[in-house]
Amino acid sequence: MKRIITAAALASALIAAPAMADLGLAKKSGCLACHSVEKKIVGPAWKDVAVKYKGDTGARDAMIAKIKKGGKGNWTAVTGGVPMPPYSPRVSDANIEALTDFILGL
Ligand code: HEC
Repeated sequence: MKRIITAAALASALIAAPAMADLGLAKKSGCLACHSVEKKIVGPAWKDVAVKYKGDTGARDAMIAKIKKGGKGNWTAVTGGVPMPPYSPRVSDANIEALTDFILGL
């Protein structure tokens, strides 16, 4: 029951204020140790990620897979080859999808 209420609260928060809701989720998930929206930290700036994949219909699935399993190779010029760590199962599939949509929507 508590999960359902949390999910409903999250869904309404997403509709009301997507950026706020998902930056909170990103923080809670540990992403902000290496990412920010505006600038490169260890990983690429999420605004740059959104620009890179704009109009790329396969990007959403590839990004979900990357966040779940980790990996490297798409941002070597920016990161020097540092890998992105895997986040599944410590971040739920639903939250990984929400983070992906948030990043692609920037
Ligand atoms: C330890 C540092 C670190 C953390 C923590 C981290 N990332 Fe990353 N992330 C990276 C690096 C490095 C890359 C570049 C990988 C590459 O070259 O393909 C990356 C790449 C990405 C990309 C682009 C993927 C692509 O293939 O173009 C996305 C999206 C992303 N991260 C989202 C997240 C999310 C969401 C979280 C939290 C759940 C997170 N990252 C946590 C380091 C990190």
